[in-house]
Amino acid sequence: MSTLRDLAEEHTRLRPADIDHLHRIAGDWQLLSDLSFADLLLWVPVDGDGAFLCVAQVRPTTAPTAYLDDQVGRIVGGPEVAHLEVAHRQGRIWREGDPVWYGDVPARHEAIPVRLRTTDGEAGEVIAVVGRDTNLSTARTPSQLELNYLTTADDLAQMIADGTFPPPRHPGETTSAPRVGDGLVRLDAGGKVTYASPNAQSAYRRLGYASHLVGEDLAALHRRLASDPLEGTDAANGILAALRGEAPPRREIDARGATMLTRALPLMPAGVPIGALVLVRDITEVRRRDRALITKDATIREIHHRVKNNLQTVAALLRLQARRVSMPEARIALEESVRRVASIALVHETLSMSSDEAVEFDGIVDRVASAATEVAATEATVGMRREGSFGVLPAEVATSLVMVLNELLLNAVEHGFPPPPEPTDPTGPGGSAPAEPEGAGPAAPEVVVSAHRFRKMLHVSVTDNGRGLPPDFDAERGGNLGLQIVRALVTGELRGTIELRDGAKGGTEATLVVPLARNESRSAG
Ligand SMILES: Nc1ncnc2c1ncn2[C@@H]1O[C@H](COP(=O)(O)OP(=O)(O)OP(=O)(O)O)[C@@H](O)[C@H]1O
Ligand SMILES: [Mg+2]
Repeated sequence: MSTLRDLAEEHTRLRPADIDHLHRIAGDWQLLSDLSFADLLLWVPVDGDGAFLCVAQVRPTTAPTAYLDDQVGRIVGGPEVAHLEVAHRQGRIWREGDPVWYGDVPARHEAIPVRLRTTDGEAGEVIAVVGRDTNLSTARTPSQLELNYLTTADDLAQMIADGTFPPPRHPGETTSAPRVGDGLVRLDAGGKVTYASPNAQSAYRRLGYASHLVGEDLAALHRRLASDPLEGTDAANGILAALRGEAPPRREIDARGATMLTRALPLMPAGVPIGALVLVRDITEVRRRDRALITKDATIREIHHRVKNNLQTVAALLRLQARRVSMPEARIALEESVRRVASIALVHETLSMSSDEAVEFDGIVDRVASAATEVAATEATVGMRREGSFGVLPAEVATSLVMVLNELLLNAVEHGFPPPPEPTDPTGPGGSAPAEPEGAGPAAPEVVVSAHRFRKMLHVSVTDNGRGLPPDFDAERGGNLGLQIVRALVTGELRGTIELRDGAKGGTEATLVVPLARNESRSAG
């Protein structure tokens, strides 16, 4: 469907400022539609021939519509739009006596000229017409509420014709404005309540005000009710501003654990301030949920922080124990556990600083990788490089993946570049010497971690240019605890695949494919 702007630009010669004004009307006219119990159609004259184009439409939430079909995009000329023509040419609101019939539906037509005031405040020209069409089939003797709504609607209609409605918008107003049905209060020029809808009355009751609102000075009442005196003064000032003809921003009032959102609108048909319209909405539940969400977020972060601290304590205890045992194998095993625990702590540390359950993984990989190079026992340092990016990963994927990468990186450094055998101890760790490539000098020891995403899959490889896998290595099942952890996590937690093979240019290459769609939706659910 075409937008208001598209339609206006295609069919009319309206200036951008005119179109902006029409947008503001369409952004705020639900209020008028609800108060009028009527459909509103926004018509712009089409070049030349007296026809009008409908660029926007709104239906009342308080009454049945007069139009079951969408009217936007219709171009109409002739007698059907004669009333629009009068309003447009004469710049006055046009009311029709006799109902018109749409099939079985009787309707009353009105036409409100839309004026855009000039920047220096002069009444500008008429740029469009709002058709106000009421479905009369359910009309009955109007109640007090209906009479009050209709009176207020007429004031607002006049303000559209004057160019003083809608009021300018206040930036950053995110909560949707209160609607007519949420609660409506009408004030006279002195700020006294002349009418309060039943829902408005209930909203004030929740703030602790049980008496009838009619006759009350609303600004004084707001000042009295608000738990916070500053908020009370602010709310009162908002009402006073509207009574002066200004449009204050929305305000919230907290009292007795309840929260009410208020919007005050000046009423000044024909430029005369006659009072204000105050729309109120009880948003206690919304605010309570907001607060609960904020605390839930903070709690999750705090838990990650504590898990990280606990893991670091565990790592510290293991390190202490490693220093005390004399058996080298036992010491090495304990030191490895320290690194395993520390790498998981890294993920929780990252999660404790983010606001959602997902982590920017590259930073974690880089830290784990640089920790792994520290265990290298060769004289030459092992270079570490990351290619591509892991992107943002859900927490569960991250915790498993960091363990996997930790093992693969440690293996690359430990087994790819083992320390040279000590001449006095030929059975020492490392066994045979690394196979020195002949001819060209040995390439600098390097481990490369690469990551890229392709079709919702994360492809990761850890490649070293070391001495390669042992000849008798069983790629499917071989390995000690390290590779067992890797296989268990990859096939179990991550539901992915892992392969270990000789690298294309010597060394070893581990490749890992992890589905992200599934893991992401798991974490979302
Ligand atoms: N990048 C590699 N280069 C050469 N050999 C490797 C490489 N990765 C693994 N291996 C071989 O696979 C074996 C099994 O690795 P695995 O990680 O399961 O056990 P580990 O490293 O010996 O002990 P740990 O359980 O402490 O990790 C290693 O002992 C090594 O021989
Ligand atoms: Mg290992």
